[in-house]
Amino acid sequence: MSGSNGIVVSGLRREFRGGIKAVQGIDLEVAPGEIYGFLGPNGAGKSTTVLMLTTLLPPTGGSATVAGFDVAGQGAQVRRVIGAALQEAALDNYLTAHEHFELQAGLHGMARKQRRARAVELLERVGLTDAADRKIGGYSGGMRRRLDLALALVHRPRVLFLDEPTTGLDPQSRSALWEEVGRLAGDEGVTVFLTTQYLEEADVLADRVGIIDRGRIVAEGTPNALKAAIGQSSVEAVPADPRDRERLADVLSRFGEPASASPKGVAVRLGGGTEELVDVVRALDAAELSVAGLQVHEPSLDDVFLAKTGRSLEGAGDQPAAEERAAVPA
Ligand SMILES: Nc1ncnc2c1ncn2[C@@H]1O[C@H](COP(=O)(O)OP(=O)(O)O)[C@@H](O)[C@H]1O
Ligand SMILES: [Mg+2]
Repeated sequence: MSGSNGIVVSGLRREFRGGIKAVQGIDLEVAPGEIYGFLGPNGAGKSTTVLMLTTLLPPTGGSATVAGFDVAGQGAQVRRVIGAALQEAALDNYLTAHEHFELQAGLHGMARKQRRARAVELLERVGLTDAADRKIGGYSGGMRRRLDLALALVHRPRVLFLDEPTTGLDPQSRSALWEEVGRLAGDEGVTVFLTTQYLEEADVLADRVGIIDRGRIVAEGTPNALKAAIGQSSVEAVPADPRDRERLADVLSRFGEPASASPKGVAVRLGGGTEELVDVVRALDAAELSVAGLQVHEPSLDDVFLAKTGRSLEGAGDQPAAEERAAVPA
């Protein structure tokens, strides 16, 4: 896919002084227009990977191309076609949103005439029109993230890197950002490489997910394929009449092995996935069993993480939350 808007990473490594192996040889490919979710706990190596792919940190091994350009040997070309909103947003509290756009557009060599119109368009798109002439010192976290995203888009990048774009945001700001990212990829064909610690974000937003832990990719695929590989969806039924519990267990046992259930219910693993649910309902009906509740438990990406690492993603970080790295300009 060289020359296109994809990302190809091969054996990429980054070791820091003192022997810290932040990224230990990762391989991945992101197709043009795809949203790739790079999911992992604190300290997994997400930001280090993004810094290498955006040419801000040289790899100590392996290689990567972005839109066909080598991140090590063709930095200038890479930087021309990418946009990045990094974890350490390089925003200045004493400047307004418009002043930030002036700077950013200047950096990208945009003609003065086009700058204002592009800024107006992007500020509108991220809902900051009313705040555009205020110093951003008074912005909320969500407004800063939105401004940072808008700034990353100023030169119409073909590949967009977002490092934990929604960490610390309230649910509304989070879903607004998801919507905008989805639109960029879907309508404009922008390739998006997004890191996150949030299972739901990867699940909802990403076409494909790479799960990174301790510098290695432990699983990769579409969210559905990853969850299906774990194969643990189960169905639980609670009988309307507690005396029917045995009979209910009997009927359900035709569909799979027993699974853990609430005290009043009976659960089995669904061998054939959730499509089997219809058959379960029919079988219950045929046995004239009435149920007070019927629930499917789908495997989550956390189950995937657990299966691959033996730990739960929530609280799996080996790092304090505070990032110590100095800010790097995008
Ligand atoms: N500049 C650096 N010097 C030394 N160690 C670093 C540096 N940057 C990151 N690390 C270490 O590399 C590992 C991965 O960090 P990072 O890529 O920031 O993870 P994530 O973004 O997934 O939280 C961590 O153990 C972190 O402490
Ligand atoms: Mg990080």
